[in-house]
Amino acid sequence: MTQNSRPRETWSSRFGVILAVTGSAVGLGNFLRFPGLAAKYEGGAFMIPYFIAFFLLGLPMAWVEWSIGRYGGARGFNSAAGIYRSIWKNRLSPYFGALAMLVPVGIYMYYVVIEGWCLAYAWYMASGQLNFGATGSEQYGNFFSQFTGLASDGANYSLSSAPAVIFIAICFVLNFVLIYRGLTKGIEWFCKWAMPALVICALIVLGRVLTLDHITSGLGFMWNPRTESMSFWKAMADGNMWLDAAGQIFFSLSVGFGIIINYASYVGRNDDIALSALTSAAGNEFCEVGLGGMISIPASFIFMGTAAVAGTFSLGFVVLPQVFATMPLGQIVGTLFFFLLFLAALTSSLSMLQPAIALMEEGLNLNRKTSVAVLGFITVLGAAFVLYFSKDLLALDTFDFWVGTFCIYVLSVFQIVLFGWFLGIKRGYEEIQRGAEIRVPPIWMFIIKYISPLYLLGVFAFWIYQQVITPRGANRFAQIIDNSVVMASVGFLILVGILFCAFVAQSVRHWKKQESSGQQHLDVGDFGGL
Ligand code: ALA
Repeated sequence: MTQNSRPRETWSSRFGVILAVTGSAVGLGNFLRFPGLAAKYEGGAFMIPYFIAFFLLGLPMAWVEWSIGRYGGARGFNSAAGIYRSIWKNRLSPYFGALAMLVPVGIYMYYVVIEGWCLAYAWYMASGQLNFGATGSEQYGNFFSQFTGLASDGANYSLSSAPAVIFIAICFVLNFVLIYRGLTKGIEWFCKWAMPALVICALIVLGRVLTLDHITSGLGFMWNPRTESMSFWKAMADGNMWLDAAGQIFFSLSVGFGIIINYASYVGRNDDIALSALTSAAGNEFCEVGLGGMISIPASFIFMGTAAVAGTFSLGFVVLPQVFATMPLGQIVGTLFFFLLFLAALTSSLSMLQPAIALMEEGLNLNRKTSVAVLGFITVLGAAFVLYFSKDLLALDTFDFWVGTFCIYVLSVFQIVLFGWFLGIKRGYEEIQRGAEIRVPPIWMFIIKYISPLYLLGVFAFWIYQQVITPRGANRFAQIIDNSVVMASVGFLILVGILFCAFVAQSVRHWKKQESSGQQHLDVGDFGGL
């Protein structure tokens, strides 16, 4: 039994939790964001900061989140607020849990919109409505612009663009039906068939791409560690590339989201987490580098040349449909590609809802139906906001930056400090190793305690410095003051953050009451809460 005397939810199998975490990780970041970034930094050169960030930030953060999650779960908590509070006996600690709700929920609000585009594009590909021939590049751009309401705010609410809203609504409902069904019958069940299905679709698409004529030039463009425009060392000195690589690792592995700690809290106290964390991180890298990186860029390069492979959305939604129209069997391959994007997005967006549901259930004592309804209301408002302010996708970009990059860094710094300094490396290592099927080399503890926080702070300091020297128009801070849509977007996110803080405050009151009335039955030991 848990904190609220609810039956404790658990995953039905170890395979199930690994698939669920991998499902959360494998998403649009793997098949759209990663190829877009790799192309931006001319392929091979990008892979160096990318893999360094994987080993020094991504993998350590994955172990940290799995272990603090299971640690908190064993003490009866599934929400980040409860878990943080069980580790660090401080008045402030549960409020970082509000951030661990804001990040996934804030990301969900725009992620579900892109998920809807993917489903729509799969449909348009299958029905042939997205085939303007090999030469109609302008038409592909116009289609995307019209479909997403790029030209003006409110365009998505006019009848001419209504299809986007319909597909997004379908995705929205699917997410909430699955989350309502719960951990094993919803998340685990769906990931168990969606993950293999998306990998099969990706392998078929990859098979077609790798058998294209001149594929070696496309792969060469993607993978050679040289840059067309500058020397290798000059490329390496580009701080932005290191920043983007670190951001990509976080986004792609879903670390710093507050998701993995929630998922890991449902793992049994003595079940392996060391190998599970490694397996899901490796699974994500396979899908990202081995599948995502091998499909879009090489195919676009062969048909369209270097000019085409720029910008995440234009690559995915403008260039690729044209590439599919050009290649033999393109209609089938294109349909499979967008369908796999949709599946990958759905297994990720689903995971973004569970952390907030967990807090509402265990902290506010709401039942699942009410928690799902409350979260549904908040996220409908957010997605409607993103959909309304569609001009140049400014609201989407602002949400993506402030929650999908900035807040992820802040939460990651907090979590790594929580593990390294408050739980303590010794106890943290024991937690990782309990029930472990592999031995995590102790050097990782040194990395977690010193290298990862320094790396994170270095990246952060570089970003702040860069914002200071960036011209006003592109400066993220100045934009908030200068642009009313950016200001409204940030204001909206702050309001949601305040609401989540209120939820946490109420939860802390509830937990304290339980603790003082002796209902506290957990083996909290010397970390018995505030
Ligand atoms: N990790 C998810 C992705 O890569 C959010 O899309």
